[in-house]
Amino acid sequence: MNGFAAGPVRVSVPATSANLGPGFDALGLALGLRDRLEAEVTDGGLEVRVEGIGRDDVPRDASHLVVRSMRAAFDRLDARPAGLRLTCHNVIPHARGLGSSSAAIVAGVWLARELVAGGRLLLDDDALLDLAAQIEGHPDNVAPALLGGFTIAGRDDVDGTFFAVPGSVDPRIGAVVFVPPDGVSTEAARGLLPDLVPHADAAANAGRAALLVAALAGRPDQLLRATADRLHQSYRRAAMPASLDLVEELRSQGTPAIISGAGPTVLAFTAAADGDGAERLGTHCPDAWTVLELPIDTRGAAGW
Ligand code: HSE
Repeated sequence: MNGFAAGPVRVSVPATSANLGPGFDALGLALGLRDRLEAEVTDGGLEVRVEGIGRDDVPRDASHLVVRSMRAAFDRLDARPAGLRLTCHNVIPHARGLGSSSAAIVAGVWLARELVAGGRLLLDDDALLDLAAQIEGHPDNVAPALLGGFTIAGRDDVDGTFFAVPGSVDPRIGAVVFVPPDGVSTEAARGLLPDLVPHADAAANAGRAALLVAALAGRPDQLLRATADRLHQSYRRAAMPASLDLVEELRSQGTPAIISGAGPTVLAFTAAADGDGAERLGTHCPDAWTVLELPIDTRGAAGW
C-alpha cells in the first residue's frame, strides 16, 4: 500500500464547453472560469466544505462527486487515507452544460494523485484522463478540463481506453456564454437523442467537425459554417426551447453559436478576443439569463 505526501494540496480546474456544435462527445474547449479546491488527509472521518455554487444543495458525504472521484483514484493508486478534509470554492454553474461535473471529477482524481507519495509516477496524465473519463462516461469535458485549450477526445476501438489530443486555438477567438436561470440534467438531455440518425446527417457532422479543427486553429472566418450540427442540438429542443431559439437567432445574424455541452447554456464564438463581445452580443440575452465573456483557458487543471 502507498503512503501520503504532506498536505494540503490544491487544484483549480476550468469550466468547459463540449460538442462545440458538430463534435458530439468528442470536441471540447476550456473556458476561463475556474473552481478551486483544497484537500488533505486526516486521521479519520470526512469533512467537506462547499463555498459558492452548490453550497446549499450538494451532498457533504461520501456521495460528493469530488470525494467519489478521489476514492476512485486512491483505489487505483492502492492508497487508503484514514480520513479526508476537502474544501471546494465553486464558480462553475451546475447543470448548465459548462462542465461542472467534469471539473469536480478532474479535481478529485488530481487531488488524490497529489496526495499520494509518488502519485504522478504511479498514474500519469494519460491514465488520469482515462480514469476521469470512465467516471464521467464520456471524455469531451474531462479532456479540456484536464489539459486546457481545445481537445479532440474519444475512446480507443481496440483497448477501450479514453484518449485526448490537443488542437490549437487562434488567439483571436474568444467566447461569450449565455447562461439560463434553470438547469437541465445531462441525463435528461441525453435521453432525448435518437438511437439512429440519417446517414446524411452523420456525414455532414463529420465534415463540419473536421472543418472546426481548422477554423479554431486559424480560420475564424469559417466558424459559422464549422459549428453547424445535425446530430444532437435540435433533438434536445423540448428540454431547452429558449436556448435553441437563441442559437438560431444568433446564427441567422452570422454569429457562430452552439448549445454548450448538453445545454442549456448557449456559447457564441467571437472572432476577436477583444473583451467587448459580451457588450455586443448582450443585446440578445434573454431576461433573467446571465451573459459572460470568457477567454479560452490554456492551462487546464493546475495547482494554485
Ligand atoms: N457530449 C455530452 C452530451 C456533453 O452532449 O451529452 C455532456 O457532458
